[in-house]
Amino acid sequence: MNELAPVHMSSVPQGGVAVVFGASGGVGAALVEHLRASGCFAEVVALSRLSTPSFDLTDEASIAHAVATVAALGELRLVIDATGFLHDDLQGPEKTWRDLDADKLARAFALNAIGPALLMKHALPALAPQGKAVFATLSARVGSIGDNQLGGWYGYRASKAALNQLVRTAAIELKRRRPAALCVALHPGTVRTALSSPFSKDGLEVQTPQTSAARLLGVIDALNEDQSGGFFDHLGVTIPW
Ligand SMILES: NC(=O)c1ccc[n+]([C@@H]2O[C@H](COP(=O)([O-])OP(=O)(O)OC[C@H]3O[C@@H](n4cnc5c(N)ncnc54)[C@H](OP(=O)(O)O)[C@@H]3O)[C@@H](O)[C@H]2O)c1
Repeated sequence: MNELAPVHMSSVPQGGVAVVFGASGGVGAALVEHLRASGCFAEVVALSRLSTPSFDLTDEASIAHAVATVAALGELRLVIDATGFLHDDLQGPEKTWRDLDADKLARAFALNAIGPALLMKHALPALAPQGKAVFATLSARVGSIGDNQLGGWYGYRASKAALNQLVRTAAIELKRRRPAALCVALHPGTVRTALSSPFSKDGLEVQTPQTSAARLLGVIDALNEDQSGGFFDHLGVTIPW
């Protein structure tokens, strides 16, 4: 696949606003690059903890302010939440139940589920009221309960499973308020980023962020309103809950 070939999002009314929360991340930055190159949006806004406006997942007021700022630019057609947390200097994924720790679990839930839930709270009502508009959050296949064969990674798995339930629940409410809009969870595949690099294993297909981003935008473009509330991988295949 040509990683830099322009992605055209023909299913979304042209000329609106697209925003990526988590634009400083590996996948988030590549999504911004593709969205800007697509020419389908009048504005493509890249938000992070260091942008203007900035937002932090643990600060609801900053999320509300960021959403209000982008919604004031025009019709909000696409909101992608590319944030997520797996490890840092303080914690990493648990290998065994002996590693379970209340504060570390709470942090995983705060960043992978509660922050994105607050983003949905503010972004879903701000979506364009008519025509296709999409809120997509980056979840992870390991958040699938039905697909869990390996165990481990308790906090990351459980917080992404919680995210998936939040997406499903919000999609039901969204259907009543914005029938043409979608709220979905997407798995970007295994992507070469700071989040995945300590855990990359031989045998896994590892994509560049550019390839993953192009595929994710292709999936979003192909989704129809009946698929709102779903969990899809970077090839558009439904993942079991
Ligand atoms: N990479 C993979 O193989 C893979 C596989 C499956 C799922 N995913 C999911 O895909 C998404 C993107 O992953 P990635 O690989 O691009 O990760 P990444 O490069 O580590 O990016 C993570 C993003 O989350 C942001 N973030 C973290 N804590 C935040 C906070 N408190 N407030 C605001 N933003 C915060 C980071 O902002 P800062 O730059 O400010 O830290 C960064 O923009 C995540 O949801 C991840 O779980 C990735």
